Amino acid sequence: MSRIVVMDLREHNTVLAGHDRYFVLVGPDGDSHLVRDWCPHRGGPLSLSRLTPDGRRLTCPWHGTKVGVAAVRRTGLPMVRSGDEAIVLLPDTPDDVPVTLVHKRILANLPPEDPDRPGSDGPDGSAGPAGPAGTVEDCAELPALPCEEQR
Ligand code: FES
Repeated sequence: MSRIVVMDLREHNTVLAGHDRYFVLVGPDGDSHLVRDWCPHRGGPLSLSRLTPDGRRLTCPWHGTKVGVAAVRRTGLPMVRSGDEAIVLLPDTPDDVPVTLVHKRILANLPPEDPDRPGSDGPDGSAGPAGPAGTVEDCAELPALPCEEQR
């Protein structure tokens, strides 16, 4: 069963649906996608990741995996936007699953990280001084582990 949620994008940028989290990822051209807030490595919060200097990947704050923005966009939910209002379809979300709209700080929408900072990619997207922990261009590349296994 699917649910429909109406978001006021001036007030909300995050949807919590049961144990699933989604956040509004804004592209360089201003287009927005409601994407899964879930790193394919071990479920970390991609909303708190930063763009690499080339703007093509997000660096997960938990273990440094770099996830392609295109792969993250492919996790997007169907969304129709009109001005500041967005209508979103939450698939497989029964009526008894709690859905909450919140506003949180989304670091993924900040400008790309400084290429001179240790651990950052170089300006051409190559590995920086500390090198990447991993790179995921397609979220299907890594097996997903349930959050409970992170402890
Ligand atoms: S959970 Fe994202 S790098 Fe490990």
